[in-house]
Amino acid sequence: MIPLAGALLLVVPFAPSLFDTCLSSNYYGNYNDGPTPYSIFLPDAACLDLWSSQTLAPLASISEAKHAIQQLVWVEQEAVDYTLIATIRSFRPEFDSFLQRLTAPKRMGRDQDVLVAPERETMGYELLYQTPTAALLSVSESTARTIDMLLPRFWKSSLLSTTPVDFLPVPDKAVKHVKEVLANLRFNPDVAAIVDSISVPQMINDIRFLTGEDGVSGIVSRHSFAEGSRVAASWLKARFEETGATCELQPFLQGFAPNVICAYPSTVNTTATVLLSAHYDSRGSFGSTRAPGGDDDGSGTMAILAIARTIARKGIKFQSNVQLAAFAGEEQGLLGSKAYARKLRDIDANITVMIQADMLAYRKQGEPPQLGLPFTIGTTEVTQLVANVSAIYSPELKVGFTAACCSDHQSFHEQGFPATQVFERAGDIVDPMYHNSGDLSDREGYDFGQVKSIAKVQLATLLHAAGYELPSESD
Ligand SMILES: *[C@@H]1O[C@H](CO)[C@@H](O)[C@H](O)[C@H]1NC(C)=O
Ligand SMILES: *[C@@H]1O[C@H](CO)[C@@H](O)[C@H](O)[C@H]1NC(C)=O
Ligand SMILES: *[C@@H]1O[C@H](CO)[C@@H](O)[C@H](O)[C@H]1NC(C)=O
Ligand SMILES: [Zn+2]
Repeated sequence: MIPLAGALLLVVPFAPSLFDTCLSSNYYGNYNDGPTPYSIFLPDAACLDLWSSQTLAPLASISEAKHAIQQLVWVEQEAVDYTLIATIRSFRPEFDSFLQRLTAPKRMGRDQDVLVAPERETMGYELLYQTPTAALLSVSESTARTIDMLLPRFWKSSLLSTTPVDFLPVPDKAVKHVKEVLANLRFNPDVAAIVDSISVPQMINDIRFLTGEDGVSGIVSRHSFAEGSRVAASWLKARFEETGATCELQPFLQGFAPNVICAYPSTVNTTATVLLSAHYDSRGSFGSTRAPGGDDDGSGTMAILAIARTIARKGIKFQSNVQLAAFAGEEQGLLGSKAYARKLRDIDANITVMIQADMLAYRKQGEPPQLGLPFTIGTTEVTQLVANVSAIYSPELKVGFTAACCSDHQSFHEQGFPATQVFERAGDIVDPMYHNSGDLSDREGYDFGQVKSIAKVQLATLLHAAGYELPSESD
């Protein structure tokens, strides 16, 4: 689709006004470098000339591809705390050795010990844009799909679409419902009793299955290509269905574990849908096949499962459609959620609130329990609603903003749906087992109490946003 050598790439700080120009039909998405979102365009020369002549184009980078563009991949350094960065030598050599791994000659043949030159099609790459903390690469499709296994620890990757995408801001009318819920938000003792009943012992059981710590599930890794991710998907579907939901395993890309999408019906005839989600796929240390993903994102996954179990235990019926989703392919660039959000956009779904939970469990010694909300990607009104719900139902949480960003809620936000994220810390990532094969639940700093407090916020927001009915006392 983006074939030719000589293609022009424009990387420019995001601004809505960019989409009032000829660039809008050559848009390939927004990607982050630190706290700044950048928009990527592949304009033709005429459009680029026209745009350049009409704008001062501050901080824009234009590059020309020397080779035919293969799969474009954005890689970026994550928002990790300086205490974690101090544990590795420096980002530069780490990134350089990553590039070397991309081009490393492949050992071919079983008995002849020959090293063959790297083949462009299979191992080559072209570096199209680079800052100290982000880069845009063109790599083969197969390399792109497994690039997360080659990346240095505190970097993550996102695959760009192979065709231009639309820029869809969240329309005012989509935010109307959230604004009403926020304006009418008051403490409700029924909601408090429901959310307080979320079971920590149940969460401990659930996470130990997902990480393989129970010694029974046999799960070693929930990486999207690992066998364990399939085991986890079927298990999650069965557990959610036990709570009265109807679930589907939805494949989205060849080779990847499927999304697990579960729905509860509404008691009234409405198209409105509230969606809570997490990603169940995981990532381990470079070179290791173990990826227990206890915090990232077993914690978010067990939180939505705990919410489902509470819905069943309390006999809750909703006055709006409710969906609970466990996505795969997050670690390769939000691939599962992008597919699902596009699907919902295609059917013009009416998502009133979407909240992604990604990493809820880690609490650094000496810090209070926290709730981190995104300060870049997300819908302000949804973020405000979550903050105010937290103050009412989980006052033990210190609420603040985080630069750790861009989990699956970004996929929904990009499709014009009101969305936000909940995270374990009002600041950068400090979990020393982040993207590490040691990311287990049974370890220092893994705080089930904090997970419960954040799950209370998710469920209370769901109850207020969807409306609900409880069984009458005589039932
Ligand atoms: C949300 O909470 C803040 C802080 O308590 C408060 O000032 C604000 O009025 C609340 N917003 C709404 C819409 O209730
Ligand atoms: C629900 O409402 C829509 C739109 O008003 C209507 O077309 C549809 O028939 C209704 N469905 C049911 C089951 O009442
Ligand atoms: C979407 O849901 C909201 C909240 O219930 C409702 O007000 C609105 O009319 C719905 N929109 C559509 C297109 O069904
Ligand atoms: Zn994650």
